[in-house]
This record gives sequence, C-alpha cells and structure tokens, in this order.
Amino acid sequence: MPDLFKSLFTGGMYSFFQRKYTLVDMTGKVAIITGGTSGLGKQSSLALAKMGCHVFIGARNKDKALAVVQEIKQETGNDNIEVLEMQLDDLSSVKQAANTFKSKGLHLDILMNNAGGCGAGGKTKDGFQTAFQVNYLSHFLLTELLLPVLNNGRVINVSAWGHKLQNKIDWNRVRQDDEDGVNERALDNYADTKLCQVLHTRKLSQLHKNINSYSCHPATDVWRNVYAPIKNMMTPFFTSEKDGSNCQVWLAIAPELKNESGEYYFNLAKDTPNPLVNDQAVVDEYYEKSREFVAPFLDQ
Ligand SMILES: NC(=O)c1ccc[n+]([C@@H]2O[C@H](COP(=O)([O-])OP(=O)(O)OC[C@H]3O[C@@H](n4cnc5c(N)ncnc54)[C@H](OP(=O)(O)O)[C@@H]3O)[C@@H](O)[C@H]2O)c1
Repeated sequence: MPDLFKSLFTGGMYSFFQRKYTLVDMTGKVAIITGGTSGLGKQSSLALAKMGCHVFIGARNKDKALAVVQEIKQETGNDNIEVLEMQLDDLSSVKQAANTFKSKGLHLDILMNNAGGCGAGGKTKDGFQTAFQVNYLSHFLLTELLLPVLNNGRVINVSAWGHKLQNKIDWNRVRQDDEDGVNERALDNYADTKLCQVLHTRKLSQLHKNINSYSCHPATDVWRNVYAPIKNMMTPFFTSEKDGSNCQVWLAIAPELKNESGEYYFNLAKDTPNPLVNDQAVVDEYYEKSREFVAPFLDQ
C-alpha cells in the first residue's frame, strides 16, 4: 500500500485493521513516559500501569500530571504512579529531571519519548526552534543522561509517518525563529523532529547493544478535533487515543521484540523508514550534531 494512503486511511479508519498486543506482567518494571498528561502518552501510561508497571509521567504541568496520576491509580489500583517534572523547551530542566530520576536509585526499563506535536513556533531560550527542542532534542538529551540506568532497557521514540517527508536535515532551520510569530515552516519543523527520532533510534542500536531502541508511527487519531457532531457519528470507525497508543505500548512490552533494535514500526509490525536511516554518513552526522547541541548539559 502506498505510504501516504496507508497513513491517512489507516489513521482514520484504523479500528477495522487494529492489531492488538498480548498483555505482559510488568510488575517490578519501571517506565518514564514523556507527555503522559494527555493523548497517546496518557493512554500509554494507563496501559503500562494496568500491567503493573511503575510509571513516571514526564510532564511540564505538575497539577495536570497529579490529576492524571490520581485517575490512573483509581482506574488500575496501581499506586506506583509518579510525576517527573520536565519542561522540554528547557534543557536545564531536562537535566534536572534526569538527575531526579537517577537519585531514586531505580533501574529504568522503558523510556518512552512521546511528548510533542506539530506547530510549536518560536525559539527556546537554548536557541533552538521550539518544536525541534520539545519533540526531539530534549528527548535526545534525556536519553543520553539516562543511559547509565537503562541497561537492558528499551527506548521508544514516538515518531510519525511524516518523518519520510524530508530528504535531508536543514541544520539552519533547527535554529530559525519565526519573524512574524506565525510558524510557516511548521510541517518542515515537525518532519525534521520526527526524522531525528528515527535516526536517533538507529544510532542508539549501533552504539548501545545493551539497549533495545524502537521508533514508530502511532495509529493516528487525526479526527479527534473535527466538528463534534461529525466526530460523534463517525467515532466507531475512528482510531481512539487508546487504540492509537497500541504500537508504542507493544514496543515497550513485547517479549518477541527482544532481539530487534534500531527499527521503525507501524501497526505492531516492522515498517520501512525514510531511506536516510540506512545512510551511515547521515546517521553519524546527525548524532554528532545532536551531541554538540546538548554538550553543555551532558554528564562529564
Ligand atoms: N496523535 C496523532 O495523531 C499522532 C500521529 C503521529 C505521531 N504522533 C506523535 O505522538 C506523540 C504524542 O502525540 P499526541 O497526539 O498524544 O499529543 P498530545 O495529546 O498533544 O500530547 C502532547 C503531550 O506533550 C506534552 N508537551 C508538549 N509540550 C511540552 C513541553 N514543552 N514540555 C513538556 N511536555 C510537553 C503535553 O503536555 P500538556 O498536557 O501539558 O500539554 C502532552 O502531554 C507526539 O510526539 C506526536 O508527534 C501523534
């Protein structure tokens, strides 16, 4: 099936084609899920909590996150749900979050780099295009800082089909601001971030044989913001946020994936990523740039 068609069609009508994962007992396992306060991250947190996992909800808004923690505790009976505060548009906050987690003396089994979205404009105080930093660069830093506690763990980078729209990364664009406050490059910015996540996944698999890294396109709930009466009428056919999170949850738990790493998935199956992922020069350049960008925040 052609990629664009596959993405749009299954995004809307995915419930017909939905693959489901088999539940796994995750008692004793520890996960950090960024963006766990809403959408796919919240559903992933709930799913892992139901399987007994100790879940840290990475969140910028503590009050919102505490409400989600309460909701998940009540629904699952799992009391091991906590908030890990982090502002993903601030690299020092990411470093602080990593230190806070490491100070607990826990092993990390799952790092789900999920937070983000399309459209964020402007520049962060660290000097990066906001979406680039929130969706990707902060997650790169978080992963680097948590590597010491991730032995035998899994990193899941929640990317998107849109990563295939780029045929190169424009390193000037990731530093650009929007002169008039309107992000006219939103789609390009988004595709940059999603491509970086897939490259990150590949590079991790090359550098760290003790970690399994996966990226995915979640089943897209593209309809959730449409005019309510239409949405309500069509809801039975559309992908719910819960179903939308299936692929990333499966990547976090599935025993059958333990010998795979560095790959890209869609609908609980391996899928073809942007061909740039197979160009070692691109993978290496991307990694060097990312390390350079976060250098002041890396542990020495
Ligand atoms: N759903 C889709 O259609 C779809 C399709 C393909 C890929 N994806 C990818 O899936 C991931 C989740 O998407 P979603 O649709 O579930 O998004 P969402 O419902 O909009 O949730 C985004 C999450 O990211 C958090 N976040 C945003 N900016 C942040 C910041 N500066 N610091 C800390 N946290 C921040 C939000 O926190 P608040 O709750 O505080 O706002 C929220 O928890 C994204 O990476 C997206 O690109 C989604």
